[in-house]
Amino acid sequence: MNTIMTSKAYEAARERALALLETMTLTEKLGQLSQFGTSIYSDNEQTFDDHFTEGKVGSYLTIKGAQRTNGIQRDLLAATRLPIPALFADDVIHGYRTTFPTPLAQSCSWNPEVARRCNEIAAKEAYRAGLKWTFSPMVDIARDPRWGRIMEGYGEDTYLCSRFSEAAVKGYQGDGDTVGKDRIYACMKHFIAYGACIGGRDYNTADMSMQTLHDVYLPPFKAGIDAGAATVMSAFEDVNGVPATGNRYLLTDVLRGELGFKGFVVSDAGAVVELIPHGFAEDIKDAVRLAFGAGCDMIMAGDPYNDQLSALIEEGKITMEQVDASVLSVLTLKYLCGLMDEPYVDEDGEDCFFCDEHMDVARKAAHETAVLLENNGVLPLRPADMHGKKIALVGQLAGAEGKNHLLGGWSCLCDPEHTVSIEEGLQNALGDVCELVTVRGCGVNCADTVEAHERESASIREAVLAASQCDVIIAVVGEEAGMSGEAYSRSDLTLTGHQGELIDALVATGKPVVLLVSAGRPLILTPYKDKVAALMLIWQPGSSAGSAIADLLMGAVSPSGHLTTSQPVCTGQVPIYYNHTNTGRPALGNWQFESKYRDCQIAPLYPFGYGLSYTTFAFEDIRLSSDKIMADGEIAVTLTVRNTGERDGAEVVQLYIRDLVGSTVRPVKELKAFDKVYLAAGESREITLRLPASELAFHDAAMNRIIEPGKFKLWIGECCTDERYEFDFEII
Ligand code: NOJ
Repeated sequence: MNTIMTSKAYEAARERALALLETMTLTEKLGQLSQFGTSIYSDNEQTFDDHFTEGKVGSYLTIKGAQRTNGIQRDLLAATRLPIPALFADDVIHGYRTTFPTPLAQSCSWNPEVARRCNEIAAKEAYRAGLKWTFSPMVDIARDPRWGRIMEGYGEDTYLCSRFSEAAVKGYQGDGDTVGKDRIYACMKHFIAYGACIGGRDYNTADMSMQTLHDVYLPPFKAGIDAGAATVMSAFEDVNGVPATGNRYLLTDVLRGELGFKGFVVSDAGAVVELIPHGFAEDIKDAVRLAFGAGCDMIMAGDPYNDQLSALIEEGKITMEQVDASVLSVLTLKYLCGLMDEPYVDEDGEDCFFCDEHMDVARKAAHETAVLLENNGVLPLRPADMHGKKIALVGQLAGAEGKNHLLGGWSCLCDPEHTVSIEEGLQNALGDVCELVTVRGCGVNCADTVEAHERESASIREAVLAASQCDVIIAVVGEEAGMSGEAYSRSDLTLTGHQGELIDALVATGKPVVLLVSAGRPLILTPYKDKVAALMLIWQPGSSAGSAIADLLMGAVSPSGHLTTSQPVCTGQVPIYYNHTNTGRPALGNWQFESKYRDCQIAPLYPFGYGLSYTTFAFEDIRLSSDKIMADGEIAVTLTVRNTGERDGAEVVQLYIRDLVGSTVRPVKELKAFDKVYLAAGESREITLRLPASELAFHDAAMNRIIEPGKFKLWIGECCTDERYEFDFEII
């Protein structure tokens, strides 16, 4: 596949970069490898103007707005000897100003086009604000919802995450030869295995086999690199004892050697200096030697490269060739995106923020990302049946107070003022058909004082009184935006504050309760599953939250999201993921001496891939092109998908396999293909899912990547536990 990184334009940019490199002093070169700016660690925007004259600033992070980026750029270019503009970057994770559902939510659409489209708009808005680079997508596999950063990625599955990874990269960078107007560079992060931090504790250790690293954690990065990802960020944690940011094997041998990455690596914020507390580097100089020597081209954030690299070169610990190679990568990307020729951005371009088109993309994305888990028929709320009735809307997240939280963590320059609350969305959809009674009920959290608890209980009583006079209750519970994301690991995933008490009290009214869960990560919903009339995960749906949720509740669209993480029964069941390997004592539930917990069920509450619709689907006439393939062959699975219900909807057809016997133990199931099929009521369509034998490769005990002959099972289903359509095939 041709990408910006393999294009003729890239070669031309590199030629220009080479010519410039020859004219640069060492100080100017090191400046290109140094990034500055505000960070999450400080509120003060520091532009380091005193560095300009010597050319010591190559890049900035977190500077907001076209005026500001242009202003800094102007000052910098006026002061430096060589006119090399700064590359502005930011954490544009799920939107710049218009905010889209979180990446975890996006993955639940099972439609990579959702990620591509959201990122395309995010890139456009970010570009208009002067950015050329985002620290996204995060393609860390996350099998542990205690890890708050699970919200930033695409779930627990390698195959699904890989498809989203390539779509996300293309969304930011586009498909063309350069990253031009309205496009920005992607940065795949965090390289690597950050999602495997022990116990879900952020910044902690990842200890894993080389096989797991290569078969589970690397493929999403490979997919993004093949789609042209220009940059990669090194992770904070250590992998098998060597911090990722000082890990030459990972950053050079694997990333550049095995995966063929051609762009540059930026460290995570402070990760170079953190090699010292890791106990891996003696001091800052040693940390720079280890990080830069490992292949970490640019430092976020600060002066350590500026200050330390020349001495390291003099001492022969780092070579000038290494520095030149890193600077060349950075300059090449500066030329390739047009920055060297046009360092400023049009300050009138920002009028596209929150425009109808962008809000509409956010709304449609939120339609596809909600996952309906239970429905006894209460949903959709048909307007025709609602005349003269009353709906109670309960919860801190439901009204104006919830806007900020529905945007989720890492929501860049989001704006609650430009966010549709669930109350507003429902009110707009209902018009004067029926009455909407909004009551707070209780907060997501509660201060631990007697007075605060009493206030919450009183507020719940008030809400229950109001709700008991309504015909249907919609309760919105979950997490505040800040409760997931970086540094928000949780040891207990049950609902916080008085939210559980609120649900129980609402259920006790005898009125049907529709429970909407807005959170960055999977929470424990076991106590409510069978009590409520409907249960829907809406995640953190973004700027158009309320409009999209109203569409779903009122049946203007059918929910079509499916889980991309196994939904745990209780926190102690974590980590739980569907594609685990087997043991000699599989948990079948027949015997006490099995690999299982004795105090909770074996299965998760809902399996990976699960999600309901307002309509039903049938799979018909499923056939395999062959039941024997060679190692370079492919099986095509053809079937007809029929919408057998009375509403339009979308079905996610999922293809799983199991390698029955392997030279190393194989996962009990693995997703290998999927397709989301949109069908009008009664409509049917023939689709083909392709399974190339190369998808069945894995690393054996000696770390050879092999495709082993042998017998396989194949399932076509609606989720990972659906075994209605089972087939056998063989690699010969
Ligand atoms: C630290 C986070 O780990 C990383 O994902 C982010 O891009 C940087 N800070 C910059 O904000």
